Amino acid sequence: ARKIWLTRHGESEYNQLALIGGDSGLSSNGEAYAAALPAVLKSRVPRDDEDAPVPVCVWTSTLQRTIRTARHLPFPKVQWRALDEIDAGICDGLTYAQIAETYPDEYAARKADKLRYRYPRGESYLDVIARTEPVILEMEREGESLVVVSHQAVLRVILGYLTARPQQEIPSISIPLHTVIELTPLPDGTVAVEYIPVP
Ligand code: F6P
Repeated sequence: ARKIWLTRHGESEYNQLALIGGDSGLSSNGEAYAAALPAVLKSRVPRDDEDAPVPVCVWTSTLQRTIRTARHLPFPKVQWRALDEIDAGICDGLTYAQIAETYPDEYAARKADKLRYRYPRGESYLDVIARTEPVILEMEREGESLVVVSHQAVLRVILGYLTARPQQEIPSISIPLHTVIELTPLPDGTVAVEYIPVP
């Protein structure tokens, strides 16, 4: 049996300041999460008939916060640009409060239709759904167990797809920081989902 684990990067310096986007490093809390991940995952890796752990591969985005979060994991790693966070365009590096103040119309438009709203010079959730499609196909083709270290919006899209959620619900799926989401494919084609908080 294979498993897929989804996790956001550990808390970043931008997360601590409530800034969206960017390419910051990890906060000390984020570093602690990165250090705790290997033991959490190793305890969950399925074993084969000879009781040996099955092979595991790690996929990250190309952003520092996911690469740093994955760096202690003793498994082969691949970086995917398609796993990078939603591009917030002109709003990158702002807080939501600053967006509401600086670009009130944009803020209201996103609130009214978060799925379709595209940041000026950036992306919408629909754009992220389209650009992650090849990764998701590859994920389903891949037979090995997989750790995907990515970002809030992208993981909403991946989890939403794998659990067959209606598109409209995708932008509000809960993907907390410092939590491993374990997916186990079931014989009927659905997946079991377990949220594992990492203290
Ligand atoms: O705040 C962290 C973050 O990953 C931002 O970089 C990104 O813009 C945001 O979450 C996506 O979440 P939402 O679609 O709810 O704004």
